[in-house]
Amino acid sequence: MGVIVAGLGASLPEKVLTNQDLEKMVDTSDEWITTRTGIKTRRIAREDEPSSKFAIEAAKIAIENAGMKPADIDVVIVATVTPDMMFPSTACIVSSSLGMGEIPAFDISAACSGFLYAMNIADSFIRSGKYNTALIIGVETLSKITDWEDRNTCVLFGDGAGAAVLTRSDEEGILGIEVRSDGTKGDLLYMPAGGSRMPASMETVKNRLHFIKMNGREVFKHAVTKMPAIAKEVLDKAGISVKDVSLFIPHQANQRITVSTGERLGIDPEKVYSNIERFGNTSAASIPIAWWEAYSKGMIKENDIILLAAFGGGFTWAAAVVKWRRK
Ligand code: ACO
Repeated sequence: MGVIVAGLGASLPEKVLTNQDLEKMVDTSDEWITTRTGIKTRRIAREDEPSSKFAIEAAKIAIENAGMKPADIDVVIVATVTPDMMFPSTACIVSSSLGMGEIPAFDISAACSGFLYAMNIADSFIRSGKYNTALIIGVETLSKITDWEDRNTCVLFGDGAGAAVLTRSDEEGILGIEVRSDGTKGDLLYMPAGGSRMPASMETVKNRLHFIKMNGREVFKHAVTKMPAIAKEVLDKAGISVKDVSLFIPHQANQRITVSTGERLGIDPEKVYSNIERFGNTSAASIPIAWWEAYSKGMIKENDIILLAAFGGGFTWAAAVVKWRRK
């Protein structure tokens, strides 16, 4: 018995925000953003577009791509730090919108590593025999918690969703997953207010505490060491050589982080997927969006080995190695 990724999907807002647009909003330049991050444009949700809108669209595509119907899904897991509301969960909104009935549905919070955390849970559920088929979604509308006056963060992020259907199979598709966290570094990338520690008040709004706060240099330093280390670990445990990897899809945080991670792993740059130039950092959505894109472009063939790695707030980090099997 194994677990395979049977379907993928993604959805992005239509609205495009360019570096030139940002030049008019904060003291920055296209040149600075391009050389420091690799980002040129990002997609931004409209005011009336919550995360669930993109999650539902991505889910529909993934279920159809798997050749399934919503009724085939046994559990829905949504990874996000920008849910529609604190509660009910965005997963409950997705499952009810797709008419999935009274199946279990819940959100998880692991920032940019969220999609791989969700994959770890879904993989375990299926392997344990509890459920046959899981829908996992990484979705963010980070634009809604971005301080559009803070040039250190507002140039980095974008919105969107990606989804995958995992199901039980005679074949083995998910060859390994590792996830980690270090809560001692939580204050290097966080949103201070809006939770029980600092509920919303006039003061928190005035002090701009409902926005992402980030120590970019520290995040960068940890991302470029933790991502390659856990990717190497997951390959070693699965007994797979880095030479056998057909495609490496890292979390799209910064092009310099992507390049450095690929180099540290010794992966041919042509096998390292990047779309950060167009979409920026979409946190939990970045890996499934990139995966869907690569698949849609015909870059993934049966039996290809795909390596995924992420790093984000928490800190959290994770990696997975997947053999592409659709049957
Ligand atoms: N435009 C122009 N200047 C800027 C901008 C901007 N948008 N943002 C920062 N600067 C300035 C800084 O103020 C600083 O000026 P100073 O030297 O006068 O103080 C200077 O540029 C250099 O700042 P650094 O922080 O050293 O720049 P760095 O090369 O580290 O790049 C960046 C900053 C892009 C944020 C980088 O550290 C990074 O990508 N870190 C990873 C963070 C990340 O990706 N977070 C996303 C969430 S977590 C995740 O997904 C991994």
